[in-house]
Amino acid sequence: MSTKFPLDHFEQLQTPFYYYDLGLLRATLKSICAESKKYGYKIHYAVKANANHRLLNEINAAGLGMDCVSGYEVQCAIDNGFGQNGIVFAGVGKTDWEIELALAANIECFNVESVPELEVIDALARKTGKTANVALRINPNVDAHTHHYITTGLDENKFGIYTWDLENVLNVVQRLKNVNLIGLHFHIGSQITDMEPFRELCSRVNELQKWFESHGVKLTSINVGGGLGVDYSNPDINEMPDFASYFGTFHKFLELRPGQQVHFELGRAVVAQCGSLISRVTYVKNGRQTKFIIIDAGMNDLIRPALYQASHKIQNLSASGAEEKYDVVGPICESSDCFGKALLLPQTKRRDIIAIRSAGAYGEIMASRYNLRKFAPTYYSE
Ligand code: LLP
Repeated sequence: MSTKFPLDHFEQLQTPFYYYDLGLLRATLKSICAESKKYGYKIHYAVKANANHRLLNEINAAGLGMDCVSGYEVQCAIDNGFGQNGIVFAGVGKTDWEIELALAANIECFNVESVPELEVIDALARKTGKTANVALRINPNVDAHTHHYITTGLDENKFGIYTWDLENVLNVVQRLKNVNLIGLHFHIGSQITDMEPFRELCSRVNELQKWFESHGVKLTSINVGGGLGVDYSNPDINEMPDFASYFGTFHKFLELRPGQQVHFELGRAVVAQCGSLISRVTYVKNGRQTKFIIIDAGMNDLIRPALYQASHKIQNLSASGAEEKYDVVGPICESSDCFGKALLLPQTKRRDIIAIRSAGAYGEIMASRYNLRKFAPTYYSE
């Protein structure tokens, strides 16, 4: 039985729903701010992880900027007051209206991923008599050692400018009049729990800084992206990532020039642990080799296990005592609608309440209406 959750309250509610612990979110933000302030780092929240308005209020109040990857996210940043804390805009496929919206909002920086994109930003900025600040998103060819769907910094990925093309890109950027090159941007992947890939990223940044310096370019902004992972197996023991050692790694290994500002784009590390998907057991069914717990949440509510073979801790909040092995599955007509196989859980019965933990990042935001199901509602700890 868990004391973390208000089970009596949950029993009154229709399931499934997302439940957010705002106290934990606040504590996480406090730790991020305290540890990053030590080095004067600037944090942009990667809103792709979760755009829930109550969470955004807390994140905005903590003073984070926003990292966006679509015009809709830029609009969300503006609507939620993130403008004054700095909006950065990445993405390989920014369309004209998205660029125009960001130009009109005078965002802090476009993280540019190709030559044709640079040319379009320049042309659209010229039309409105503006100069856009740009950072070159460089694909550093660093292996993040994470799931291949969430690795972004390898030569085989579609993201960023490849280092072999740098000379050409620099020529273009210097020729264009309505873009102002202020820095470099990187993002090597997501759910990275070992500091080694970040250390490697720092040495690639150091090499690239030397290259730009030797070409007479002065950079003021170094954006190292996001990617810090969380502990999906032990969300109660490790309620938040070790931000001290994360920021400490960059402080130790990045060689900065005077006046340079380091930016981060954290998504998962901010919001993953404060969210749970709460569901009810519909049936317990005996298979030939396994017992199935069929719950009323499905892959449309949380797609991470189906899409990335991600494992989230699953708890039966209603039962305790002798355990049995179960596969926990949803009601969707797909075999991949499975949240966990051969899990040890207390003996489970119809109507027990199940919590799928660490679902605050890339959960609610990636939900769909597959099978014409409704989007799960949200509840909060306060
Ligand atoms: N910056 C850029 C340019 C990114 O592409 C991403 C994530 C982030 C920052 C934030 O990364 P984070 O700190 O959250 O790791 N849906 C997948 C994760 C996709 C991440 C995409 N990019 C999942 O559920 O694991």
